[in-house]
Amino acid sequence: MRVLIIGGGGREHAIARKVSQSKKVDKLYCAPGNAGIAGCAECVDIAVSDFTGLADFAVKERIDLTVVGPDDPLVGGVVDVFEQRGLRVFGPRKNAAIIEGSKAFSKDLMKKYNIPSAAYETFESSKDAIEYLKSSKYPIVLKADGLALGKGVLICNSYEEAVNGVKQIMEDKQFGSAGDRLVIEEFMTGREVSVLAFCDGTRVLPMTSAQDHKRAKDNDQGLNTGGMGTFSPSPFYTKEVDEFCRKMVYQPTMDAMKAEGRDFIGILFVGLMLTKDGPKVLEYNARFGDPETQVVLPRMKNDIVDVFEACIDGKLNSIKLEFEDNAAVCVVLASEGYPEHYEKGFAIKGLEAFDGKEDYFVFHAGTKQSGNEILTNGGRVLGITATGKDLKEARKKAYEATGWIDFANKYMRNDIGKAIDEA
Ligand code: AMP
Ligand code: GLY
Repeated sequence: MRVLIIGGGGREHAIARKVSQSKKVDKLYCAPGNAGIAGCAECVDIAVSDFTGLADFAVKERIDLTVVGPDDPLVGGVVDVFEQRGLRVFGPRKNAAIIEGSKAFSKDLMKKYNIPSAAYETFESSKDAIEYLKSSKYPIVLKADGLALGKGVLICNSYEEAVNGVKQIMEDKQFGSAGDRLVIEEFMTGREVSVLAFCDGTRVLPMTSAQDHKRAKDNDQGLNTGGMGTFSPSPFYTKEVDEFCRKMVYQPTMDAMKAEGRDFIGILFVGLMLTKDGPKVLEYNARFGDPETQVVLPRMKNDIVDVFEACIDGKLNSIKLEFEDNAAVCVVLASEGYPEHYEKGFAIKGLEAFDGKEDYFVFHAGTKQSGNEILTNGGRVLGITATGKDLKEARKKAYEATGWIDFANKYMRNDIGKAIDEA
């Protein structure tokens, strides 16, 4: 088979590595890819936003299967464009990717179908939102309705802070048109867990659990980022929690989307908060998580292309997902200053230390080849993953391997996976 992956971050590197191991695949492309992906796929310089260019390439190169990584093209309808051209593609159509593209949509869906989540109200004007805040309890959570690179959520501790937040999102348009509508949500406390699930429009097969670390600094301080590190499995995601979520969250979400005429085919990413009143949905994404994928896929035993095909063909009942009985930890090496201002273009040293090591992985996120050198080219630069017999061993190995890499403004959190000590 000839396969194309759309995207160029750490998530796509983890997907590309896994796809390249499939017995079915004899040619793998990635658009646009990055310096690390180039090690297992041929990178082609087409932007993820150029749907026509991507589809033209797939036709010309006789691509048998395209896998879409990022949220923007999914929410923008890249899958619909591929299908109109008669191309086989893995990912939700535009009318299903809205589950990530509009928080107001996903909150209304959960309410209508009794899927556990935080109480909320949706607003179209800042005046109404501010009026509502006068009688709210604090802290409270403000969410820009649309896509905002994982940064459109503000947790506000006081009325004054919340009013400022409403103004930033709805009046100053800090997140652009994502802030045309606003969801104001009840604040929840508990452990967070991410579960990624394969979906075939009718059935849903959850993968092993993971936990992300969204804040930039140790002890969950600093700004929200795309994710600074992950571990898998989560010791807090017990068998009971899994059973509850399968029955009350995952399957009901599939059924709800079908009932709405929005059959969901692709990866449903469910962000959960394990509250004292039970698991509740924080958010849905319509794609693999980044960096969740960097700890989940290295533990997966199945040939992933079989699973992608079963989803597209509506035959997920033919698949039994299997994961190694081990654990994985991923520590993101970022450019100092991320998620705000940072410099890039520095030479990365030490990558060869990972060659031939079976349970250590270096996933490239923001990197670029320049002559013989690989340079930093983004906020999140590399994801260093290690597997081990348990989370403690995996964490020790992942942090050990972060020391093999050097670049000028290397920054990481030092407490990825610390929560497991409390489990
Ligand atoms: P989201 O993009 O919706 O997952 O939000 C980003 C992060 O904000 C989540 O991972 C949580 O840490 C936090 N968050 C979102 N919604 C809530 C909520 N209702 N209560 C508490 N924290 C929240
Ligand atoms: N790591 C969170 C996300 O991919 O949205």
